[in-house]
Amino acid sequence: MKTVFSGIQPTGKVHLGNLLGAINNWVHLSNEENKNYFCVVDLHSLTTHPDPSLMQENINETIKVLISSGINQKNSNIYIQSNVPEHVQLSWILSNFCQIGELQRMTQFKEKVDQLGSHAGILTYPVLMAADILIHKANEVPVGDDQTQHLELTRNIVERFNNSYGEIFPLPERTTGKVGARLMSLRHPDNKMSKSKDDLNGTIYFDDSKDEIIKKFKSSVTDSENEIKFDNETKKGISNLIDVYSTLHELTHADVENKFKNSSYSEFKIEVGESVVSYLEPIKERYDSLSEGDVATLIKDNLDDVKNSAKKTMDEVSAVVGV
Ligand code: TYM
Repeated sequence: MKTVFSGIQPTGKVHLGNLLGAINNWVHLSNEENKNYFCVVDLHSLTTHPDPSLMQENINETIKVLISSGINQKNSNIYIQSNVPEHVQLSWILSNFCQIGELQRMTQFKEKVDQLGSHAGILTYPVLMAADILIHKANEVPVGDDQTQHLELTRNIVERFNNSYGEIFPLPERTTGKVGARLMSLRHPDNKMSKSKDDLNGTIYFDDSKDEIIKKFKSSVTDSENEIKFDNETKKGISNLIDVYSTLHELTHADVENKFKNSSYSEFKIEVGESVVSYLEPIKERYDSLSEGDVATLIKDNLDDVKNSAKKTMDEVSAVVGV
């Protein structure tokens, strides 16, 4: 049986990139015979200095989206990172198996220093991520494309740690869907879709109305040709729309090209928009039916199991390092 771990920051609203790039795979993995841990990583989000008065609301909202996305909860633990202090304990130990230069070379470190200033939290962010993954000894990590480098670093840390202390951790692998691993902004197809407030029209949020979704797709940036063809170099906008459609309908890019070979860009944009509306509708319905009490109960019910698993790993790690 595989152990799966993945995380999401409670910063702002969950968007289509999070859903198609990561959470969709969480749903698939939760329907297999795995042990799954899906974590709202509030400690990571502190690197962006979020407004404390909005933190609990954002955590609850994120958990509600995870529940609504259809994650099979029978074999899945959804929980909040700061409820399990072992994440931070393990992170400290692992930081001794990671070079400063490696952390400085992370693409996300370089990007974030420009946006957020160079505090140590941004530098050591990937070590805490490694601890998240390893605290339950996960072998599979379903994440979007932007997390690949962090996962590579985790693998390096595992190899060094295991070289010193024996086979303590498995070497985790990234799980990715065939498509949809990097959704781009609908307005700026050179940039990935993100929670950034500067790109509201380029981002589809989970709770956008039908009209908003269709409007955003209709005005999405494409190119001056009229051929629905996947080419990530010269036709980034249309390739992104093909990617969204392929993911939602479980088709290859070639299937989508073929299906829409006689359609115009504007017809295709509406088809993609409508597919997104149909995908998000049941998620929104379930979301609206959940109360704060439902979230609190779920967190309480999962916590013992999560804490036991984390403690077991920390006990083993503490023993081998001799503390
Ligand atoms: P976060 O909160 O930025 O995003 C959560 C998940 O959504 C994926 N994602 C995307 N996928 C496709 N296209 C996009 N435009 C897009 N935007 C976001 C991300 O790849 C991610 O899988 N560092 C992580 C959180 C984290 C974590 C972990 C993940 C902390 N510890 C341990 C896995 C394992 C992050 O900031 O994700």
